[in-house]
Amino acid sequence: MTRRDFAARAGMAMAGARILTEAAYAKRAAVPGQLPKDMVWLNANENPAGPPKVAIEAMVKCLPSTGRYHYQEYREFYTAVARFEDLAPEQVLLGAGSSEVLHAAVDAFTSPTRPLIAINPTYEGPIDVTRALGRQVIRVPLTSKYGADVKKLVEEAGKARGGLIYLCNPNNPTATVTPRNDIAWMIANLPPDTIALVDEAYHSFNESPEFESALGAVRQGKNVVVTRTFSKIYGMAGLRAGYACARPDLIEKMAPFRNNVISYVAVQAVLAAISDTPNFIPQRRAEILKTRRDLCAWLRSKNLKYIESHANFLMIDVGRDSRQISFPMANKGVAVGRPFPPLDNMLRVSIGTDADMAKFKEAFWQVYSA
Ligand SMILES: Cc1ncc(COP(=O)(O)O)c(C=O)c1O
Repeated sequence: MTRRDFAARAGMAMAGARILTEAAYAKRAAVPGQLPKDMVWLNANENPAGPPKVAIEAMVKCLPSTGRYHYQEYREFYTAVARFEDLAPEQVLLGAGSSEVLHAAVDAFTSPTRPLIAINPTYEGPIDVTRALGRQVIRVPLTSKYGADVKKLVEEAGKARGGLIYLCNPNNPTATVTPRNDIAWMIANLPPDTIALVDEAYHSFNESPEFESALGAVRQGKNVVVTRTFSKIYGMAGLRAGYACARPDLIEKMAPFRNNVISYVAVQAVLAAISDTPNFIPQRRAEILKTRRDLCAWLRSKNLKYIESHANFLMIDVGRDSRQISFPMANKGVAVGRPFPPLDNMLRVSIGTDADMAKFKEAFWQVYSA
């Protein structure tokens, strides 16, 4: 094979990797059957509240000025997001959702010899990208309490002589929290050439006193990348805005793997949303937590087991392959989560509005008790 052939093939492989990733998103979100128009969507952990009013106003206002790139304004944008997290602009990387910066971390910190190491099950985004790049993924089983075995994660990184440990906290799909002591231990014991990638997409829904953000470790300059998103509690999933926080040299390594800046419309929405955060996030959080508590009380009243949730979704033990419940539910107008092997008997449902959950309970019970 000539060098040019090799380059062309490598290029095709890379293009294939990107296409595969997009197809994977569509596949994950797919719900089978003839779907009614008034479908209740409880399959992707979105927020039914949608974007806050201030963000919508800011987006509408900026639309006439989207004829220009506005590149010169992005430094200020970075400064605002960094200040929001008590960081410097050099410690932040914005992306199209947290997906883009998670992918950038995989690109930068795994290699043909450095694997991705992750619990099983967890959010598949970084795993799919690692596999699409032809790099190794090492999976570590959950503990008996559906938690993350940090000792094993670190051990695997040591055996591989370095790698990227991906830890989602609270975890998707189990909604469990990795306690602060475990996170601290993991970070203190990272083997050489190992980075911890802590995905905090759902941190705002956590109620556990055991939870602590890994942002403190970022501020201390550790080998840690934390990702956050505007897709969940901020209700702006379709806008595609998220960010990574890390030491400036780690950010520099990740930055070349992003595609471009995020849309100027998303920038305006994010700026408005973060400046108004105290006015709407606590209320949103309280509403979701209340609806989650109501659902848990209902599940208990039906003697159904579930995993205690610290996110805007929870897993119910349905005692059979979850597709036996989720497929017929789709026909009844309620979309719930896809299967998450090896937790085949667990059904993941996102927390929607009270009206959504009323429809969920009705459809679920009809199918479950049939
Ligand atoms: C744990 C976790 N991380 C990251 C993402 C990616 O979300 P986004 O790219 O919208 O920030 C998701 C999406 O559901 C998720 O569940």
